[in-house]
Formats: sequence, structure tokens, C-alpha cells
Amino acid sequence: MTCAKTPHSTAIGPAQLAKFVRPGPRYTSYPPATEFRPDIAGREALGQLAELGRRPAVRSLSLYCHVPFCASLCWYCGCNVVATRNRDSGTRYIDDLIAELDLVAQALGRRLALAELSLGGGSPNFLVPADLARLVEAVHDRFPGRDDIERGIELDPRDTELAHVGALAASGFSRVSIGVQDFAPAVQKAIHRQQSVSQTASLVGAVRRAGIERVNIDLVYGLPGQSPATLAHTLDAVLGFAPDRIALFGYAHLPHLRPHQRLVERAHPVPTVEQRAALLAVALERLADAGYVRIGLDHFARPDDSLATAAATGTLARNFQGYVVRRGDALLGCGASAISDSGTAYWQNHVDVAAWQRSIRAGALPAGRGVILDADDQLRRWIIMRLMCHSRVDFAEIEREFSVRCEEYFAAELTQLGQQPHRELADIDRGRRELVATELGTKLIRNLCMVFDRYQQCPADSGPPRFSPTL
Ligand SMILES: C[S@@+](CC[C@H](N)C(=O)[O-])C[C@H]1O[C@@H](n2cnc3c(N)ncnc32)[C@H](O)[C@@H]1O
Ligand code: SF4
Repeated sequence: MTCAKTPHSTAIGPAQLAKFVRPGPRYTSYPPATEFRPDIAGREALGQLAELGRRPAVRSLSLYCHVPFCASLCWYCGCNVVATRNRDSGTRYIDDLIAELDLVAQALGRRLALAELSLGGGSPNFLVPADLARLVEAVHDRFPGRDDIERGIELDPRDTELAHVGALAASGFSRVSIGVQDFAPAVQKAIHRQQSVSQTASLVGAVRRAGIERVNIDLVYGLPGQSPATLAHTLDAVLGFAPDRIALFGYAHLPHLRPHQRLVERAHPVPTVEQRAALLAVALERLADAGYVRIGLDHFARPDDSLATAAATGTLARNFQGYVVRRGDALLGCGASAISDSGTAYWQNHVDVAAWQRSIRAGALPAGRGVILDADDQLRRWIIMRLMCHSRVDFAEIEREFSVRCEEYFAAELTQLGQQPHRELADIDRGRRELVATELGTKLIRNLCMVFDRYQQCPADSGPPRFSPTL
């Protein structure tokens, strides 16, 4: 596991890290979503779902429902969002989402058990509480699940009422992920997100009083106006809430893809790679001192949290929501822009809400693009996910899953990893037949994964970067 109780975490200096940093995928999927193609759409998704329904080994599913609406737009936001104050659009959206659930259930051809339900966005709390309850009930009507399955939801404290919390508790939610990002007033001003510590504390208190036990907090480092001192201050406030998990995302600033992000540059410049490294170092030290275990790239958990247990027992997985405990046999995504993973294919719904709606109203699955994984993709995905989750790969284990001889199949990759500068990222033990990320490689795990990524091997085109920096 990627254990992060690393008191020596500051031993690697910003300059040493910075020389490796370049744009790279976050590997929430492999191939990355940039490889999804429009020819893998509705009809292909239909075939994939029917095939899933026929596979005897597939008994349960994890379901993700995307709610794209937010009452106001944060200028740093990289999610698929629609900013509106019209709550009726949420009610209409849930009508269509329930119709999509029907299409999916029909295509599967058999009732699969629900292992886990996640609502994300955007801000699912944009929905009125009655719509939230209606959605959960509709999910359970189509996919029966035990009472104690994990139900999780993302919440924006600036727009979540006590009535939402009551509805979530009544619908059996056990985990909430609360967006914070940063409490420093200068940063909040730069990113157009005003949110006080007390506002956040009252939501944390309300969910716990309602019996929703698990609380996650989202933070972002690398935002304009952040300094190691302000980030440390934010972390202290967040640690005061005693969250079960903290996600600390590196700011993905891609204004050519998200033009509103240009607005964050008005107040302060976006931090340089060296500044990002200094911010991350402060956070790693603070979180380790507070007893949090680092999970993969950007998650931190209390040692008794299920994510820490999953990291220790090998059931940690990575998907479009980040690091998760592997629960369902397949992941299905419903709602505009949601991504599904059948194991042999990924497909993403139309991002545009109107296009998504039109497709459902015409009785067709609303997939807009995707990719079918060939044998090489499946093998490389296995390695990349092992690295992202556990920072090591065992060649014998790979050979039990796939009919290849690692040293031959990956001769070029292993040669590259044996030479500078990559040899600083991983130790290859040819006797034990394993590859283990060094401490530097653990920090730059995306760079290490990129060595095994067939799609990153061609020289980058001259256009603007499609990915965020690897640190
Ligand atoms: C859907 S939002 C969380 C729920 C709610 N909308 C909120 O913001 O409070 C998901 C999370 O993604 C992260 N995020 C959004 N845009 C990002 C970006 N450009 N770079 C890095 N992380 C980002 C933030 O930490 C955010 O809390
Ligand atoms: S960060 Fe959250 S609240 Fe802000 S625009 Fe993005 S999804 Fe909406």
C-alpha cells in the first residue's frame, strides 16, 4: 500500500520533483478519457450492458448518478456542471434520470443487486429533498440492495439545508463528501467561492447528528493565492472536524478546456510547479502528523477507515470518483457525462444535458463516446491501476492474469525504467520479479504509469496540454 506516514516527506525537494513534472493523465481510467471515441456510443453501450447481464460472475453493481447543477459557478471548477438557480430543472432532470435507470435495467435483462450508490456532480444538494428521496427510491426499485450498502453523496455546504440532511438520513446515506477547497479569504475570492469554517462545521455537525457517520472533506492545492502557511491553516481547521477521509486534489488548470478558469488568474497567478511541490509537502507533513494514512495519489484516511483497510488488504480500486473500496462487479454511471465501466469497455454519457435528455426521451441509451479495451489495454490497465493503488507490481501476479512473459512483453518499458531519469522513480528487482516505486516515484506515480501507457508514447502534439501537471 502507499503508506504515507512519512515524516521524511519533505526530504525530496521541490526542484527534484519539478524536473519530472509534465502534463499527464490522472488514471481514473485506462485508456484515459481522452481516448474515448464517438463511434462507441448508444448501440455499443446496449450490447455491453446485455453482455454484462449474461456474465454469471457479474452479480452486483456500483451505481454512480451525476447531478450537474450548481447554484453558482466556482471559477476553478473542472467538473461537468451547469450553473443555474432554477430548481425546477433539477426536478425535470430526475424524471429523465429515472427513465435512464429503466433503460439500463432493461438492457441488462436481469436484476443485479446494488452494492453501492454514489451521487455526485455538480452538487446533488441542488435537488430539492423530495427529488433526492425519489431518485434513491427509484434506484432501489430497479436494483435491490441490502439496507447496509454504502450510499454516499457530494455536498456543497453553501447550499445544503437541514431538510436535505434529513432526507439523506432517511434514505440510508452513510457517507458525505463535503467540498471545502480552501478557507483562506484571498483564495476564496480568487476562485469565487465564499465559504466559512462555521458554515462547514455546522453541516458536519448536522450530518453526524442525523446518524450519517462518515464524513469526507475535499481540498485543493495549487490554487491562486495559496501559500504553505495559508494551506496549513486550512488543514488545521479541517482536521478540527475529524473527517474520516480527506481528498487533496492538485489543481487542474486547463483554461482552454474550461474557459471560466481564466477568471482565477485575475487576482493571483496560478502557482508554479515548485510552489505546488512546496504546498504538497506542507500538506503531507500535516496530515501524517495528524495520523492520516496516505492512499494513492491524493486521498488520506484515518487508519480505521474502510479505504485504509482496502489499501492494506488489496481491495483498493480507482475509478472516476477517485480511490474507492471495490464493491460492485461493474460500475454503471447514469446522468449527463457519467461514465460506465463494464470491465471490457468504458462509455460516457453525453455531457450536454439537452443531448442526454433527447436521447433518453427517444428511448435510447444516452452514451456519447467510449472505448473498447483490447487485450493490451486490459493488461496495461491492470499494471497502471496496481501502481496507482499500491505503488508496486508483481510480475508473477500479472502472468497469472494474462498470458504474457513480463520481461519480454515490457522489455522497452523496463529498459526505460533502468535508465536516467526514470531509474529514480522505480526499483526493478529482477530476482523477485517485481517493480516497486521509490519514494520519489510514489510522489510522481503518474509519471511512472505513463511509462506503461501506450497512448502517451507518441510525442505530444503542439497544442495546449490535455492533462493537469503530474504533481
Ligand atoms: C463535485 S465537486 C464537490 C461537491 C460540490 N460541488 C462542492 O464543490 O462542494 C468535486 C470536487 O472536485 C474538486 N475539483 C473541482 N475542480 C477541480 C479542479 N479544477 N482541479 C482539482 N480539483 C477540482 C474539488 O475538490 C471538488 O470538491
Ligand atoms: S466546485 Fe462544486 S460547487 Fe463549485 S462549480 Fe464545481 S461542482 Fe459546483
